[in-house]
Amino acid sequence: MRSRDPITCEGTNGTADTGTHAGTHASAHASTRVSALAARHAPVHAAGYIRYPGEAPGRDRVLWLLASSFGRRVSGDEIGRALGMSRPAVWKHVQSLIAAGLPVEPVKGRGYRLIQPLDLIIPDDILRSLHTRTIGRTLFCAQETGSTNNDAKDMAGESPDGAVFMAEVQNLGKGRIGRTWSSPPGGVYMSILLKPDIPPSQAPGLALVAGYAVASTLRSLFGLDARVKWPNDVLVGGKKVCGVLCEMRAEADRVADIVVGIGINANVEIKGLPAATRETAASLNDLIGRTVDRSLLIANVLNSFEAAYEEYLRSGMESLARRITEIAAYLGQEVTVKNLTAAHSAETTGTFLGIDPQGRAVLKLPGGEGVAVSAGDLSLRVRRRSGASSSSRPCRP
Ligand code: ATP
Ligand code: BTN
Repeated sequence: MRSRDPITCEGTNGTADTGTHAGTHASAHASTRVSALAARHAPVHAAGYIRYPGEAPGRDRVLWLLASSFGRRVSGDEIGRALGMSRPAVWKHVQSLIAAGLPVEPVKGRGYRLIQPLDLIIPDDILRSLHTRTIGRTLFCAQETGSTNNDAKDMAGESPDGAVFMAEVQNLGKGRIGRTWSSPPGGVYMSILLKPDIPPSQAPGLALVAGYAVASTLRSLFGLDARVKWPNDVLVGGKKVCGVLCEMRAEADRVADIVVGIGINANVEIKGLPAATRETAASLNDLIGRTVDRSLLIANVLNSFEAAYEEYLRSGMESLARRITEIAAYLGQEVTVKNLTAAHSAETTGTFLGIDPQGRAVLKLPGGEGVAVSAGDLSLRVRRRSGASSSSRPCRP
C-alpha cells in the first residue's frame, strides 16, 4: 500500500485514518509508535516518499521538536523561533497533530508538551548525527511500502549516489533467494543506493561490508556482542537481529547501480513474527532493555557503512577481512556451507576459520586442508556439537 497520508499511528491502517494512537510499545519505556514520515502537503515521490532535507512538512517538524524535547514543556514562541514559523502556524500544526491522535497537550498559555514518548524515526535527527560525505545525505522516507530495495531501484535514475530509502513498514520485504523479510512497525528498513565505479565482480562483498557496519555499530552503541554471520546477517546471542540484501544492475564490465538493503529488528515485537522466524530472531530493544532510538541507530550505521565502503572501494576486502573475522559468528566451530540453488545438494562441512581477503568463507576440512567458498547463493549453518556431528543436516544457530 502506498501512503501519502498524514502522520499515522500504529494500529491504524496506514491510510488517512487518523484515529487513536493504538500501539503502546511493550518494552521498558512505553512509547507510542507513530510515523511522521509522510504528510499530505509535502511533495510526494513515487511510493509516497518524502525527500529530506528540503521537504519536511511543518507539522512533522513540530512533532519532531516536541518528541526531541520529551519531558518538558515547549512554548509556541520557542517552537516558532526554532522552526522559523509564526505562532499561529505552530498552533495550527498542533491542532492537526491532536486531531491525528498524537499525544500532544497544550499547557494553558504556556506552550505544548508530549504526554508520552514516541518511537519515531526523525530525519532531522538522522541528519544531525550523520558525519558522512555521500551516504544518507539524501533521505527518502515513507510510511509504508512494498520493499525499499525495489523503490531504490525504481527511483535510481532520479536519485543521487548514496541516497537512502527508508520506510516504517514493508509489506513485501525481501530476503535472499526469494525469501521473505518480516517488516512490522518498530524495525529499520532501509536501502542504500550506490553508483560505484567498480567491476561487477567486486559487488558481492558489499553485503559483508554492510553486515560489518551494522555489527560494529551495535557493539559500539549498545555494547552488544554482535557477530557478522557470513555472508549477510548479524547475530546477537546466536539470533538474527539484521539481514542484508544486495541487488546489483550491471553491464558486462561496469556496475550501473547497487542497492544495499538493510533490515534491523530495532523495536520489533518478536512474538508478532511468523512462528519459524520467532525462534531464530531477536530485537535490540529486548536485548538492551529499552526502546532503541532508531534515528541515532540509522545515522551510526550509515556513518560506519560509509567508512567501511570507502575502505572497500580503495583496497577491496584486503584490510577489512581481518576485522570482520574478529567479530564473525561461528569462529572455530563446525559449519556446513550449502548451495541453496544448485539442483544437487552441494555441501561443504568443516571448521570455520573466518573471512579471506576476497570475502570468501574459509573452512578447514576434516582432512586438514583449507577451502575458501564464495558467497553466491550459499547458506552457512553451524552444526550442533552433540549427537549431530555425523549428520549432514544443517542446523539453525
Ligand atoms: P542462511 O544464510 O543460513 O540461509 P537465513 O535463514 O538467515 O540464513 P537469509 O536468506 O539470510 O537466511 O534470511 C532470510 C530469512 O530470515 C527468512 O527465511 C526468515 O527465516 C528470516 N527472517 C525474516 N524476517 C526476519 C526478521 N525480521 N528478523 C529475523 N529474521 C527474519
Ligand atoms: C536476508 O536476511 O535475507 C536479507 C534481509 C534484507 C531485508 C532488507 S529490509 C530493507 C530492504 N528491503 C527489502 O525488501 N529487503 C531489504
